[in-house]
Amino acid sequence: MNHSERLKVLLITGSTVFKSETCLMLQRIRPCEIEHKDSVHKSLRYFIQYKPDLVIADWQLESHTASDLLQAMRTNDDWKRIPVLITLDESDRDLTEQALTLGAAQVLFKPLNQNALSRILAGFFPVSRRQVKGNTPFDYRKIKAKLEQIHLLAPLPSLAAKIMDLLKDPNSSARDLAGEIKKDQSITARILKIANSAYYGFHREIGNVDRAIVVLGFDEIMNIAQVVCLMEAFDTEDDSALNRKEFWGHSLGTAHIARALSKRLNDLSPRDAFVMGLLHDFGKVVLNQHFREEFHHMIKTAEDQQRPLHEVCRELTGTDHAEIGGMVAESWKLPLPLVRAIRYHHRPESVDKDGREIDVAHLANFFCHRYKIGESGNSVADEPNYLSLLRLGIKEDQLDEFWQSLKMDPMHLRDILE
Ligand SMILES: [Fe+2]
Ligand SMILES: [Fe+2]
Repeated sequence: MNHSERLKVLLITGSTVFKSETCLMLQRIRPCEIEHKDSVHKSLRYFIQYKPDLVIADWQLESHTASDLLQAMRTNDDWKRIPVLITLDESDRDLTEQALTLGAAQVLFKPLNQNALSRILAGFFPVSRRQVKGNTPFDYRKIKAKLEQIHLLAPLPSLAAKIMDLLKDPNSSARDLAGEIKKDQSITARILKIANSAYYGFHREIGNVDRAIVVLGFDEIMNIAQVVCLMEAFDTEDDSALNRKEFWGHSLGTAHIARALSKRLNDLSPRDAFVMGLLHDFGKVVLNQHFREEFHHMIKTAEDQQRPLHEVCRELTGTDHAEIGGMVAESWKLPLPLVRAIRYHHRPESVDKDGREIDVAHLANFFCHRYKIGESGNSVADEPNYLSLLRLGIKEDQLDEFWQSLKMDPMHLRDILE
């Protein structure tokens, strides 16, 4: 598809109401040329003459299902590349699996959600940077060139590097950790402040690092130390586009939730899950520190247009905080699953299999937004991604129940940085 042209969408549905609602929604998202058919047979005839960029098809058509369409599309190399979004009247796990197995790019439930659809379109058809260049104050080449030096923009804090080495060393002990922490008085003070916060709820004050390790445990202090190093090294300033406390509250909340999810789902080590949650939005710290004017503009645009920040950022710059965070994680030599989880936490559908760590990051971020734990500059939160839920074995209508079973208290999580 040439991005300066309108998006060519083939909409296959027998419902006139769904047809007009979807047409309106698509036009609100971006300029589209929409062709409507009500059967697979007519659609395939249309395919022979024209090639749409995207197909949106009801699973249940009058006398047949869209499985015929998906199967037919697999027989032609050109057609295979066209993403097909299948729509179902209601959530149905078996049909979803069947459609995805036959090659559907995504399965959506009615009524469609404009934000979700907009996010999917942005994933498949990013708006060309040339198209928006005239409307924004950005110089894309400069942004790109600067990001190539990511190790200079976001060097790994030295204590965090030492903690990571301790993590890799099976012989490391609590004494080694305490020794490293005690070398820095200000970091020690911050760790003790968190250890004594209402979140941990100890009545007797924890007065030193050795005691903190005994009371809270080696892993917990290691995690708190990582939080403190990152907050210290990448402090935000007064004219920041992000509220520092809210941002780290969101990151830390996501870290705790990701750790709880990893224990439940047994996919990822709880230590890795914590680091992943803590860093999932770290790209925003880089944007905030090194591209402040642009970042302000993105946050404002996303707010004005009521769209997810990462989507606006990608349209304006060709990248987003998740990708930048992935670059940082890579430059810090974090394990590959963590890099992938950070990079794709808003686009789990980009990885078709073996993406459970991405799903954990995505879901932890979703819960953190839903229960308003901190704030990360994103006024429109993601909907839970269906593919993620499918891979994790959680039904959408059971999300509340699943959250309850994690026994996490949002009020309590908000206390961590008090
Ligand atoms: Fe994010
Ligand atoms: Fe986030």
